Amino acid sequence: MKQEIVDLPDWLQGKFIVLVGLMGAGKTKLGRIIASSFELPFIDADAEIEAAAGCSVQEIFDRFGEDYFRDGERRVIQRILSEQPAVLATGGGAYMNEETQQEISAHGVAVWLRADLDLLVRRTERRSGRPLLNKGNGREILADLMDKRYPVYAKADFVVDVSDEPAPQTAQRIMTNLIEHQPIEENAS
Ligand code: S3P
Repeated sequence: MKQEIVDLPDWLQGKFIVLVGLMGAGKTKLGRIIASSFELPFIDADAEIEAAAGCSVQEIFDRFGEDYFRDGERRVIQRILSEQPAVLATGGGAYMNEETQQEISAHGVAVWLRADLDLLVRRTERRSGRPLLNKGNGREILADLMDKRYPVYAKADFVVDVSDEPAPQTAQRIMTNLIEHQPIEENAS
C-alpha cells in the first residue's frame, strides 16, 4: 500500500527509529510502513543477519546455537547503526543486550511495541521459522519471555500499545508520538 509521506520531525533527523518488542508484535510490518511514510530506508535486523550468515535464523540456531546467533545479532546491529539512518526492526531478543541498548541510544530512539499475550500467540501461530517457539508450548514460552523481557523493553524511549487495529493506524499512532515527541503512550486501548 502506498503510504502518505510525512515530514520527519527535526529532532529525529539523522537518527534511527528502532522498533523493539516480542515476536508477533509487528515490528517488521509497522517498520516498513513508518519507513515509507518518513521516506527513510527500512532494515530488518534478522534479514541482515541471515544475509551475513548465508542461512536462515532457524538454521543458525540449529547449527551453531543461540549464543552464536546472539553474538552475530549484536555485531550486525552495531554495524547497521554505524551506517545511514533508517527504520530498524530488531529481533525480539536484541534489546536484551545492554551493549545493543547503548548503541541504539547513541544513534537513535527505541520504540517498544507492547502487545498482550493473546495477540502475540494468535500472530505467532500463523508463522513458523521462530526457533524459540519450536521448543514447546508457544503460549507458555511467550508468557515467560514477557516476564523476562518487558521490564527491559520498558527502558525504550517510546512505548506504543499494539492491538488488532489495521497496521497503518498503529503506524500512524507511532508516528504521531514521535512527531509530538511524546515518549509514553498513556492508554493501553
Ligand atoms: C527472537 C526473535 C526473532 C529472531 C529469533 C529470536 C527472540 O525475531 O530474532 O528467532 O529472541 O525473540 P522476531 O522478533 O522478528 O520474530
